[in-house]
Amino acid sequence: MTPLLERTLWHPVAMGHVVGSQPLAVTLLGEELVLWRDGAGAAQAWLDQCPHRGAKFSMGRVEDGQIECPYHGWRFEGGGQCTRIPATPQFTPGPRYHAQTFEVQEAYGMVWVRLEAPQGQALPIHALPVFAAEAEARLRKTTSGPYFVKASAPRIIENFLDMAHFGYVHEGWLGSRAHTVIEPYEVKPTATGVRATGCFAWQPQSSIHAQGGAQVEYTYEVSAPYMAVLTKQPEPGSTAIEGLWESIAMFVCPIGEESSMAWTRMAMNDFSSPDARLINFQDHIFSQDQPILESQRPKRLPLAPHAEAHGSADRMSTAYRRYLKESGITWGVSL
Ligand code: FES
Ligand SMILES: [Fe+2]
Repeated sequence: MTPLLERTLWHPVAMGHVVGSQPLAVTLLGEELVLWRDGAGAAQAWLDQCPHRGAKFSMGRVEDGQIECPYHGWRFEGGGQCTRIPATPQFTPGPRYHAQTFEVQEAYGMVWVRLEAPQGQALPIHALPVFAAEAEARLRKTTSGPYFVKASAPRIIENFLDMAHFGYVHEGWLGSRAHTVIEPYEVKPTATGVRATGCFAWQPQSSIHAQGGAQVEYTYEVSAPYMAVLTKQPEPGSTAIEGLWESIAMFVCPIGEESSMAWTRMAMNDFSSPDARLINFQDHIFSQDQPILESQRPKRLPLAPHAEAHGSADRMSTAYRRYLKESGITWGVSL
């Protein structure tokens, strides 16, 4: 049977630094997983279910670089093999004594998991050019979140792509009721998604460095079904840091069809602000979006062209819906 497309994509499940010597329970596409780090420091993502009697690994502990089930203390090494059964310590468990494991990668400060290997062409974690070289000192990188949201992943991405709500939801921050017009912008498909360029918004306080209102130019790119990135450049002279620009990626983990975990990853040429200040700003903006996201009905993003009314400022969101439909995404949408 062909696996669901979304099960073959890489999804962010946690920030890398929170996966350590305590097992961590997360949910991805309805599957309960446990994350932990083995003795070599490699992140592990397994079904959160011991192969012995089905207890949750996430209630156990990590000892000597191995995970120990909370029920009968069976131990498993990175990769999933059982190494020890305390009730019969002389017995060497064979390959049948194995946890169900999933593929893991670390990128952009996050742990990424995919539940199944795709048939045919393997998709990478989609490239985000400005975030790609983590070692590159040219840009400052900070992550905010996780935000637990009772909304589908596509509703969260669509909100991230939407400028016409700035004057209402983020009044006094990213917009103003006195400047609500969205001039036409350009939308084009890319190899892995869609891109909008030439998007302009008037913003009273577009970042913590803004000194009064300014016109800000945005570029938006959807690079995978539940992943988007924006780059914004305020007009010269409007910020405390000359030539400030920032790129913000929205990473969404589809927990269930109608619930998600989200993070924003910022890359900017500001090296002086403490992390907490940058994160607080993002937390505040997201706390304004969250009640709206949780209020939207239907919860699953409707992909039929006329299921909701669209304005011409919504060209990016209609392009995103078309892209989801053409990609064959079924999770978090209604067809
Ligand atoms: S259920 Fe895990 S050791 Fe028995
Ligand atoms: Fe918003």
